[in-house]
Amino acid sequence: MNIDFNVKLESTVYHPDPIYQKESWMGDWNTAYQRFLDNPTRFWEEKAEELEWFKRWECVRQWNHPYAQWFVGGKLNITHNCLDRHANGDNKNKVALIWRGEDEFSERVLTYRQLYHQVMRFANALKDLGVTKGDAVCLYMPFVLEHIVAILACARIGAVHSIVYGGFGAAALHTRIRDAKAKVIITADIGYRRGNTIPLKSIVDDAIRNAPSVEKVVVLFRSKPHEELISEKQVDFYEIMRAADPFCKPQVMDAEDPLFILYTSGTTGTPKGIVHTCGGYMVGTYYTTKYVMDLKDSDVYWCTADPGWITGHSYIIYGPLAAGGTILISESVPDYPNPGIWWDIIEEQGVTVFYTSPTAIRMFMKFGEEWPFRYNLDSLRIIGSVGEPLNPEAFEWYHRVIGKGRCPILDTWWQTETGMQMITTLVGEPMKPGFSGRPIPGVIADVVDREGNSNPPGIGGLLVIKEPWPAMMRTIQNHDERYRKYWTTIKQYYTAGDLAVKDDDGYIMFLGRSDDIIIIAGHNIGTAEVESALVSHEAVAEAAVIGRPDPIKGQSIKAFVILCIGYEPGENLKKDLIYHVRMSLGPIAMPSEIEFVSSLPKTRSGKIMRRVLKAQEMGIDPGDVSTLEE
Ligand code: PRX
Repeated sequence: MNIDFNVKLESTVYHPDPIYQKESWMGDWNTAYQRFLDNPTRFWEEKAEELEWFKRWECVRQWNHPYAQWFVGGKLNITHNCLDRHANGDNKNKVALIWRGEDEFSERVLTYRQLYHQVMRFANALKDLGVTKGDAVCLYMPFVLEHIVAILACARIGAVHSIVYGGFGAAALHTRIRDAKAKVIITADIGYRRGNTIPLKSIVDDAIRNAPSVEKVVVLFRSKPHEELISEKQVDFYEIMRAADPFCKPQVMDAEDPLFILYTSGTTGTPKGIVHTCGGYMVGTYYTTKYVMDLKDSDVYWCTADPGWITGHSYIIYGPLAAGGTILISESVPDYPNPGIWWDIIEEQGVTVFYTSPTAIRMFMKFGEEWPFRYNLDSLRIIGSVGEPLNPEAFEWYHRVIGKGRCPILDTWWQTETGMQMITTLVGEPMKPGFSGRPIPGVIADVVDREGNSNPPGIGGLLVIKEPWPAMMRTIQNHDERYRKYWTTIKQYYTAGDLAVKDDDGYIMFLGRSDDIIIIAGHNIGTAEVESALVSHEAVAEAAVIGRPDPIKGQSIKAFVILCIGYEPGENLKKDLIYHVRMSLGPIAMPSEIEFVSSLPKTRSGKIMRRVLKAQEMGIDPGDVSTLEE
C-alpha cells in the first residue's frame, strides 16, 4: 500500500479561554512535555506516588524490547485505589456512581462507601464459587450497576476479567470464553435497548456449549417474575451475594500480574485477547483521567461508552474511580425515547465533563440543533471524543452547539492495546478541527515511512509510538507472536496500524486504518471475522468484506459473496446472510449491503485484494495491481 501521500493541512484554530489552562492539573503542553522529556522516570514515578501501594516498586521501568515491565516489584490492588482509598477517608459519602435506566424514572446512586461494600460482598461470593487469583471470569452483562460491582469484585480477588460487549452474538461470545478459558460467566437474564429486551442469558446458554472451562454461570435477574434457574451450573447473583461475608481484603497483586483480558478484532478471523496488567494500567488510566481530562473533585463525569469496550474499562471504571470522581452511567441509547434524552440527563445531573464518540455526535447533527437547544447545558466544562476521527464538521457542531463555543474539546486518540489516551489536545490548548492533537506528556509518537524515518509535516505515513508507556498491553492471550508483531514491524517502534499526518506544530491528524480493520461507530471489526461468519453459512463459498464511508457511523460493511453451486442470488438470501452474521457476531458486525459476485480480485498467492474492491466501490484508483491474478 502506498502510505506516503500529501495531505492538505490548513485548519481553523480555536483558542479556549486561558483560564482553562491556568486552572488545569496539567498546565501548558510545552512545559509539561519538556518536564517529561527531562526525566521520564521521575515523571511516571510522581504519578504513581499519588496512588497507594502495598509495597513500593524497585524500578519504574524495565525495557527488554518488546517486553516492558513497569513499577517492577510494586504490590498493589487497583480496587484499593478505586474504593478503599475513598471509602475509608473524607470521601466516603461522596457519590461514586449515578446510574440511569432507559426510562427516565429509574435511577440508582451509590456512594463510595456503598460501592466498596457491594464489591467486597460480591468478591466473597465469587470466592465461594471457587474463583481464585488468576482465574478468568467472563462478563456478558447489560449496563447496570451490578456490572461495575462484578468487574471490581474480580479485580479485588485477582481474577482476570474478560468483558464481552452485550451486543455480540453467541458465536463471538463462545470464541472469547474458550480463548480465555473462563471459569465463571456473569450475565443477566435480559438487557434493555430501545424499549426491547435482549435475551442475554439464552445467548450465554448457546455460547457455553462446548466450553468445558465454564463451571458456573451467575445470573442477575431483572425481569419480574423471572424464570427459574434451569441448570446446576447457574446461580442467582443476589442469592450468592447475600450468602457471602461482608468484608473482603484486597488480594495483593504484583504490578505485572494480569488485571484483565479484552478482546479486540484483528486482521485474522480470531479476535485478539489484549492483556493488561495491574500497576502500569492503574497509573496510566489514573494519570490521564486526572491530568488529560482534568477531572476535579467537584465534577460530574459522564462517559457514554459501555464497559464492554476499552473506553468503558479505562474511562468509566478504573481511571475515574482511582481519581475519586463522581461518575454517571446510563443504559440509554442517544435517541430513545427521543433525541433529547442525553441533553436532558446532562441538564438534570449537572454533568461537567462529557466524553462520547464521533458517531453519536454525527447522529445528533442529523436530528438537528433544536434538540440540544431545548436544554440548559451550561454545566459542561470539558467535552471529549474517542473511537474514530472527529471530522471538522462534527468538531465545529460539537464545539458550537454542545460546548457553546466555550468548552475545550479533547479528541483523544488511543486503542484497546494502548490502554490509555495517547494523543489529544490538552485542556486549554489551541484546537484544530480534523486534528486529534499532540502526544500527551509521557508519550513519544511520530508519523513515519515504512522504514521508520520520520515523515515531514504534510506527508502521510504510519503512526508509531517510540517508547513504552505504563498502560501498554503486555501480550496477546495465547498468541505472543501477534503481540511481538506490533513492536517489530517498523524498527523497534510500536506500530498502531493507523495512517496519520502531522503539521508544523506537531498536531496529528488521523486518516484511518492501514490494515483490514473496519471502525464502525467507533468499534473495531475485523474484515476476516465477518468473512468467516459469512462462509460458515451453507450457501456461501467465498466472501470478502470492505468498509465503506458512512455519514453517521464513519464506516459500514459491504460484503461481496460468491455462492456455492445450487444457490441462486436473491433478496431473501441476502436477508438470510445478514441475519446469519447478526446471530453469530452480533448486530454491530452486520453488513449493510451484500453483493453477489462470480469472482473476487486475488493476488497470485490467493490473498483477496480488498483494496481493489474498495477502490472499485468508491470509484477511485486502486493503486498498484501488479500482484493481481489474471
Ligand atoms: O483507528 C483508531 C481509532 O480506533 C482504533 C482503536 O480502536 P479500539 O481499540 O476499539 O479503541 C477505541 C477506543 C480507544 C485506533 O487504532 N481511533 C480511536 N480514537 C480515535 C481514532 N481515530 C482517530 N481519532 C481518534 N480520536
